[in-house]
Amino acid sequence: MQYISIAIDGPAGAGKSTVAKQVAECLHLMYIDTGAMYRAVTWKLLQAGVSLEDNSTIGEIVQDLDIRLSDENGRLRVLVDGQDVTQDIRSPEVTRLVSHVSRFRQVRDRLVALQRQYAKQQAVVMDGRDIGSNVLPDAKVKIFLTASIEERAERRVAELQNKGYAITIDEVRQELVKRDQMDMEREIAPLRQASDAQVVDTTNKTIEEVVKQILTIYYDATATVSKGGQA
Ligand code: CDP
Ligand code: CDP
Repeated sequence: MQYISIAIDGPAGAGKSTVAKQVAECLHLMYIDTGAMYRAVTWKLLQAGVSLEDNSTIGEIVQDLDIRLSDENGRLRVLVDGQDVTQDIRSPEVTRLVSHVSRFRQVRDRLVALQRQYAKQQAVVMDGRDIGSNVLPDAKVKIFLTASIEERAERRVAELQNKGYAITIDEVRQELVKRDQMDMEREIAPLRQASDAQVVDTTNKTIEEVVKQILTIYYDATATVSKGGQA
């Protein structure tokens, strides 16, 4: 069978990482969480105490940064300059600031180059905001994952409360709306549905149902590609 890459985009909390990871496991493809890369840069800038208005210092730091994604027994690890930051990049502070950091051209240029490098070496399942529209415009399978804001907020609040964070659903909803808006309105590679992406609405669907739906789309596309057609 011919392996092809899958691009998954959508707003925060739509289920992208959860579903992308499981799809990648089923297909034995590498999973690339591009949001984790933007979070890693944000973590580094916070550590270094850099002002998020300071364009040139941000550019210098991001240029020299060593960001690696690795798979340790099915668990995604994120390393920044050799340090494991997998947990730290999910903190509320990083979450609050990541959409400010992801607006910068130097940040996007560096991370998009790394993302394309991964996809050059092998077929991947890559999730983010601009994968189908910008990072992998030739991907044969493009999914735009959505869910109602209410369900996305409920999912995220459950996740955070399980981790012990004292946060209300109203706070989470506000944060999601604000972040989506910044991601949609930024100048460079904003969050949007690629014209050739298929929309998968995950509202009221289980993770298993969504994974199955994406696998069906993928198998249809591979059948078309192996017949020499356009997927
Ligand atoms: O998992 P969650 O929806 O909270 O977000 P994420 O996928 O970890 O992404 C965090 C942030 O990184 C997003 O809100 C965007 O600002 C940025 N991002 C981006 O600009 N482009 C991508 N391809 C992926 C993420
Ligand atoms: O990556 P993204 O921000 O799009 O979402 P996620 O972090 O994969 O998913 C957010 C939460 O929703 C996780 O706790 C998932 O387990 C949950 N989820 C769900 O309950 N039902 C789905 N169909 C997909 C995700």
